[in-house]
Amino acid sequence: MAAKLGVVLLIYTQSLLCLVSSSDPPKIQPFSFPVNLQVGSPIRVTCGLEKGSPPLTFTWKKNGIQLKPIPNKVRFLEDEGFVMLEIKRLDASDVANYTCVARNSAGEDWFTSHLLVKEGASGML
Ligand SMILES: *[C@@H]1O[C@H](CO)[C@@H](O)[C@H](O)[C@H]1NC(C)=O
Repeated sequence: MAAKLGVVLLIYTQSLLCLVSSSDPPKIQPFSFPVNLQVGSPIRVTCGLEKGSPPLTFTWKKNGIQLKPIPNKVRFLEDEGFVMLEIKRLDASDVANYTCVARNSAGEDWFTSHLLVKEGASGML
């Protein structure tokens, strides 16, 4: 009798969890770019979630415009619950506001961070 009740409770709990997670909109964990970035160096920044149920789709925007992968320059590495933006050989054209957008069936969230690149190489003085 007690065992049966346990099973019923377990099923009830699981369906409740299922219900909660399937309606959990994404919430992005704030991120920022490293400071003192030099021209020519690479950066990686990770946009992760505090919460949000799969399936999720991630997109990046640069100054509000959708960012696309560029061979040997801009790459997205995506896995369950996060996406990493990688930019190689930084130059002045990479200075911008980068927005990560996470979306699922329950809603969307976005977070913007500014990427600043120091002009001029170090060791010039
Ligand atoms: C980035 O965002 C900041 C603050 O919203 C704004 O002042 C700045 O002009 C933006 N930079 C670019 C390159 O759009």
